[in-house]
Amino acid sequence: MRLNSHPSGRHFLQIPGPTNVPDRILRAMDYPTIDHRGPEFNALAKKVLRSIRQVFQTRQPVIVYPASGTGAWEAALVNTLSAGDLVLMWETGHFASLWKKMADKLGIKSEFMGGDWRKPADPAAIEKRLKEDKEHAIKAVCIVHNETSTGVVSDIGAVRRAIDAAKHPALLLVDTISSLGSIDYRHDAWGVDVTVAGSQKGLMLPPGLSFNAVSEKALAASQTSKLPKAFWSWDDMLAANANGWFPYTPATNLFYGLSEACDMPSAKWRWRTSTCRSARASPRSRARCSASAISATSTTSC
Ligand SMILES: Cc1ncc(COP(=O)(O)O)c(C=O)c1O
Repeated sequence: MRLNSHPSGRHFLQIPGPTNVPDRILRAMDYPTIDHRGPEFNALAKKVLRSIRQVFQTRQPVIVYPASGTGAWEAALVNTLSAGDLVLMWETGHFASLWKKMADKLGIKSEFMGGDWRKPADPAAIEKRLKEDKEHAIKAVCIVHNETSTGVVSDIGAVRRAIDAAKHPALLLVDTISSLGSIDYRHDAWGVDVTVAGSQKGLMLPPGLSFNAVSEKALAASQTSKLPKAFWSWDDMLAANANGWFPYTPATNLFYGLSEACDMPSAKWRWRTSTCRSARASPRSRARCSASAISATSTTSC
């Protein structure tokens, strides 16, 4: 196979992600790479760091890493937790399992709830488990909002209410790698502490950027968390970001693309409403599955 040849016609991706990148975004990235310590990049970064907040529906800082979503998973864990901390994770499918494996590798104790890959996180079961945890050993609840491998969507607002009903101080960490920009998502209104996201799905960008949106409570936890962190350190990133800079080389041209994605005329409308491309697609997919006698995996829709 020759890597510089492409079949005629437009290459059309039909996988859960990376998704097709609109021409407008591709064109926006087709600029010469600029000096990331120069004034043009500084202006671009300030604009992007401001406008990305609307995508997460937050007034809080959003940290942007030159990394895939897996990096942002790690950043969420190492900035908020210490070795030996216990976290509750809900098993919705393959990606929830990978996140759990990562927690285990980092020396965090993880408790997997659920296990039926057709079903979303159960807020009542989470509330019950947290009520049992009188010592507050559980430091975080980790949920994959849209489990890409199964199409299962969990109700994040309901999980927050469950944590509050149990009067438990656990942080709420949410993976939105395949939901942000596709399914209604509200970091602030749903009381999420760390939202983990990636560029290559609902944001309509190529892979290469990932994100942590962080609540004040998460920032406070980062001051006492003891897991080792260097590249992923929120402190260094936020200190540099305050003036539109980065502690290391950012993915310069992807920033042009991200800026364009935030500016697209439909963007405000898309982020603000609960309009959901997946919701529109899922009844059709389900109907096609049953027509062809294939069992649709997920019992939920967004
Ligand atoms: C829900 C979810 N979480 C995590 C990941 C891992 O992200 P990445 O492959 O960008 O590292 C993916 C990737 O598809 C995903 O869909």
